Amino acid sequence: MSLCVLGVESSCDETAVAVVRRGDDGAIEVLSSVIHSQVVKHAVYGGVVPEIAARSHVETIDDLARLALSQAAEQGVGVDDIDAVAATAGPGLIGGVMVGLSFAKGFALSRGLPLIGVNHLEGHALSVRLTHTVPFPFLLLLVSGGHCQLLHVRGVGDYERLGTTIDDAAGEAFDKIAKTLGLGYPGGPALEAEAAKGDATRFTLPRALLGRKDCDFSYSGLKTAAAKIAMEQVKTPQDRADLCASVQAAIARQLVERSARAMRAFKAENAARTEVTRPAFVVAGGVAANKTVRAELSALSEKEGFDFVAPPLAYCTDNAAMIALAGLERFALMQAAADYDGDKQVQDG
Ligand code: KG4
Ligand code: ZN
Repeated sequence: MSLCVLGVESSCDETAVAVVRRGDDGAIEVLSSVIHSQVVKHAVYGGVVPEIAARSHVETIDDLARLALSQAAEQGVGVDDIDAVAATAGPGLIGGVMVGLSFAKGFALSRGLPLIGVNHLEGHALSVRLTHTVPFPFLLLLVSGGHCQLLHVRGVGDYERLGTTIDDAAGEAFDKIAKTLGLGYPGGPALEAEAAKGDATRFTLPRALLGRKDCDFSYSGLKTAAAKIAMEQVKTPQDRADLCASVQAAIARQLVERSARAMRAFKAENAARTEVTRPAFVVAGGVAANKTVRAELSALSEKEGFDFVAPPLAYCTDNAAMIALAGLERFALMQAAADYDGDKQVQDG
């Protein structure tokens, strides 16, 4: 049965609304996915200011919803065709989450539709399925400004966290080190551009958690070491470029080391399943845009027998299409369970 869901995302500094449909044949179609980035508003402060973020969500969310619905209508899906509303219910900046969730609740109430609260991380976990046919189970590296996690994705609602950061996320490390070096916000792209001109072997940086047998991450030691080098040894533009290249290499190296461990754990768990021959290693989150990170993770996947899959950047970073999809997949499961109960009652009765 065809299903159509309106999704709302507002957990950080992007306000986003989308309409996603699953056709009778199971094919997923993004009918609209509109995003308003607040990055210019926060850039002067060098990071996201929660109150400014929440106010900006309030100012833009209704216009964005109108735009998303009108784009869907142009493709023949009107507001009456929406079956359910999904909104990020956390984790995130609470002011922003409340704006999106309350908007979605009001919309759902006024149209008599079910409301599905979605975990933002579940949205990221499933986002690859907007564009790729990736069967379960797969391994996910979610690497953004707020999160750095390795997840064994067994199915909708069935996730095991294999590792997480014990301090900063990788994107946060990019942003904070870039800020120390006087680069713009967000720091990741600016640091990558500087790194392209530098020598990655020039500075030796700490290799955190190297001997640990889990898949956790840690970036705060790197941040401190980079700040010390910046203060004591960075005098020229070339020094700065060399430090950026060394930092980028260190971040990529830890992502590779921890992902390699997770791949082995994943393979050990699925060893007896003959249908899991070449599983997917999915990389999502803003840091997946980094070319060095991508190239190294892709090479690792090849070596370990995984298919490297990176969703298009628009779905890697925060967006509402992934929230609509996660809501849709959950809603479909709830409907299937209700149908099963109904059938059973008829048979039993
Ligand atoms: O997924 P995202 O848009 O938002 C969340 O944090 O949820 O990720 C943003 C993060 C920022 O920390 C940003 O600096 C980082 O992704 N980023 C990059 C690059 N592009 C974005 N980091 C490294 N290299 C890049 N090219
Ligand atoms: Zn996110």
